[in-house]
Amino acid sequence: MNDKATKGTIERKQNHVEICLHDNVAFNGKTTGFERFAFEHDALPELSLSDIDISTTFLGKKIGAPLMISSMTGGYSEAATLNQQLAEAAEQFGIPLGVGSMRAALENRSYRESFAVARKYAPSVLIFANIGAPEIARGLTETDINTMLELLEADGLIVHLNAAQELFQPEGNTDFRHVLEQLTILTAKIPVPVIVKEVGCGISASAARRLIEAGVKVIDVAGAGGCSWQKVEAIRYTRQFGQETRFSVPALEELLNWGIPTTQCLLDIRRLKKESPCFSDIEVIASGGIQCGTDIAKSLALGAQLAASARHLLKALHEGALEKTIASWLNDLRAVMFLTGSATTAELRHKTLIIT
Ligand SMILES: Cc1cc2nc3c(=O)[nH]c(=O)nc-3n(C[C@H](O)[C@H](O)[C@H](O)COP(=O)(O)O)c2cc1C
Repeated sequence: MNDKATKGTIERKQNHVEICLHDNVAFNGKTTGFERFAFEHDALPELSLSDIDISTTFLGKKIGAPLMISSMTGGYSEAATLNQQLAEAAEQFGIPLGVGSMRAALENRSYRESFAVARKYAPSVLIFANIGAPEIARGLTETDINTMLELLEADGLIVHLNAAQELFQPEGNTDFRHVLEQLTILTAKIPVPVIVKEVGCGISASAARRLIEAGVKVIDVAGAGGCSWQKVEAIRYTRQFGQETRFSVPALEELLNWGIPTTQCLLDIRRLKKESPCFSDIEVIASGGIQCGTDIAKSLALGAQLAASARHLLKALHEGALEKTIASWLNDLRAVMFLTGSATTAELRHKTLIIT
């Protein structure tokens, strides 16, 4: 890959962090849907708050809590500091961590350390490599796969599907042909599980079925209601070319807020798993707009193995409050478990959610 392309990838990753920290990139009028659900209160919990165990398992490994730090960054020097800090928090709480797209590491050796740092500071947790659909469509070589996995001693590869983001991205790649075909080839030859995620538009039951049939082991729904990547890219486009003019005014608002709300994805995929018993081993991650521990608790009751968050945790990190934020979310989770009489996350998964 030439230097100009690598420079573009680096600048884009820097812009993403800056825009997510300082601009309004939230969905407008569309929510995750978590606020529509409430747990049935248990007046007789018959347990002590101090005995509650929030640990769970993911991909066969015990983890400290059902929370993951979603894929965000890497590929430029400041990203090394971010990945180090995210990794330290992941290690402290014993929770999984995803790094951002590793395209830059494949394009240029100099940026590999900004990813590798994650494993250095989180030696014992699950860490996931990350690559985008356009790279998958082109076909990953054995060398590409080995580079990503070895840099992180990765426990899995996350592939992100981001059609709407690429559509709005000034330099976006909108050729999404052959993604499924290449995913099938990839899952057959890679030695670790493949996780597929969206980046904020959600994964429907129909898309999940095709992904599972292609050999994908985990679906991270990354639904609508949190960070809108169409908005992030629209801001970059406007800064680069002036006012956004590619779409008509009435359609623009709908496109910027495009996507399936997170809870809708969870309900649809839970139904799919019920209807297809052969999919019962597939694990689901709830993400897209997770912003507290009650969201995590509801995610489990809606069929997710764990929840994951990106932008809210990035903001917390920026404010010097990452560990404090995670600790408070896990306390929220303990509170819900206490009030529903759930001593373990396994018990919480079976509690009744009422639509309010
Ligand atoms: C600064 C930033 C950079 C991101 N970069 C990536 C990436 O490289 N790969 C990826 O799969 N997702 C990336 N994401 C998307 C998140 O992993 C997540 O799916 C999305 O932001 C929705 O979750 P949220 O509402 O909790 O932010 C990024 C998110 C943020 C905030």
